[in-house]
Amino acid sequence: MRSPIPDYLTEVLDVCGGDGSGELAAYIPELAQADPDRFALALATVDGATYAVGDADVAFSIQSISKPFAYALALAEHGLDAVLEKVGVEPSGDAFNELSLEIGTGRPFNPMINAGALTVHALIDDETVRRGFSAFAGRDLELDEEVFTSELETADRNRAIAFMLRSHGIVEKDAQEVVEGYTRQCSLLVTVRDLALMAATLANGGVHPVSGERVVPREVTRQVMAVMATCGMYDAAGDWFTSVGIPAKSGVAGGLIGALPGQAGLATFSPRLDRHGNSVRGVQVFERLSHDMGMHLM
Ligand code: DON
Repeated sequence: MRSPIPDYLTEVLDVCGGDGSGELAAYIPELAQADPDRFALALATVDGATYAVGDADVAFSIQSISKPFAYALALAEHGLDAVLEKVGVEPSGDAFNELSLEIGTGRPFNPMINAGALTVHALIDDETVRRGFSAFAGRDLELDEEVFTSELETADRNRAIAFMLRSHGIVEKDAQEVVEGYTRQCSLLVTVRDLALMAATLANGGVHPVSGERVVPREVTRQVMAVMATCGMYDAAGDWFTSVGIPAKSGVAGGLIGALPGQAGLATFSPRLDRHGNSVRGVQVFERLSHDMGMHLM
């Protein structure tokens, strides 16, 4: 590394800060009110050092970054075989909100798209999500009530997906309740520091680097990071993994995480999104970090 870590991270934000392209996620009215210029970056190592720069104390809803953590909790509770019966591990090649179900079984292609995440959510209860996510972060996470209400009012697409999943026997719980619980899961508030530590817990084989708590078994983290690598960036996953090479997950509030097995967790926040629903400046920061610090896993 060329300079002390915080200086280097600040320099990365400066270099990537100029791009004003991309759009806020307008399909969730409350997210369209966000300050589009917020920009933050955090790094947490598996031995517990954390560095955060920019708008690092600004909280935002976790959105789809919740998906790998909910998947981890479902795997820990039910085991791999039972979860695989309900949701696959293949990239869909479609947008995150498409009804990408396997022909014949009705299984969602993977747990990173909405269909898969609704299925995973139905396997765990709301309390498990809140407690589990808080253990991943190392502090109690709160709900953003405004985002929750706003998204639930406009969640017809997820309702349609949940009803289809029920018709295939993939989801057995009440479809409306599953959408409500999943929306609550997506509305938990985090900062980049929280997200970097959550990703570092995955990178550290399931043990939180600061609290020392074992949140999920090691084999669960391997499964989760592998699916993040192949499916975490939706229909941009191949582009992402070839250029950046880090298992990752994005969210429509503008968050983006990366987990480097055995090394560190990374997180960025910048609300303007590209056409895949991934943060424009977040992707640029990761490209730069991967290049400068040799983080590409291949
Ligand atoms: O279900 C939804 O559409 C949102 N709660 C989450 C989508 C999301 O974050 C997609 N990611 N970039």
